[in-house]
Amino acid sequence: MKSTNLILTGFMGSGKSTVGRILAKELNTFFLDTDLLIENFENKSINEIFEDDGEKIFREKERYCFEWIKKNVTNTVISVGGGFPVYIPEIKEAGVVVYLKVGFEDIVKRMNKREIKKRPLFQDIKKAKELFEKRAKIYEELADFIVENKDLKKSVETIKEYYEN
Ligand code: S3P
Repeated sequence: MKSTNLILTGFMGSGKSTVGRILAKELNTFFLDTDLLIENFENKSINEIFEDDGEKIFREKERYCFEWIKKNVTNTVISVGGGFPVYIPEIKEAGVVVYLKVGFEDIVKRMNKREIKKRPLFQDIKKAKELFEKRAKIYEELADFIVENKDLKKSVETIKEYYEN
């Protein structure tokens, strides 16, 4: 594993955590997820943070997380929330950015009720699609590398090869 962090971006439900966990293991390192860091730090779920404090405060927590990662984390695979690069376009300062690209229809197919319930910005599917369309270009522009996440094993291998070379 290099000293640079490997950061996975992509829309909600694109498989960042699943890919990230496997990748970390393959690279003999650990995996961090910014949503989980924030949930643990606040001792609240993402839903509760959105409900009690609002999205603006959540974005501030993400910013805090970013600064903390930059200062304290190396050699780590990091999955960030879907909005993270949108609000923190300097994301590359924290590591190499890999965008996990999945079409909106495929995301909808993959997500079960439980997965949807955890995500305040996925409650209205029309709005989620609009968000997806608005963000797609941003993800691409801010990525060092783009992987079409169709097959889990293949995505992991492709990212590993990119990262190690
Ligand atoms: C969000 C994505 C979520 C989480 C929050 C907001 C977004 O993370 O950070 O619900 O703005 O797209 P996942 O991408 O892991 O679902």
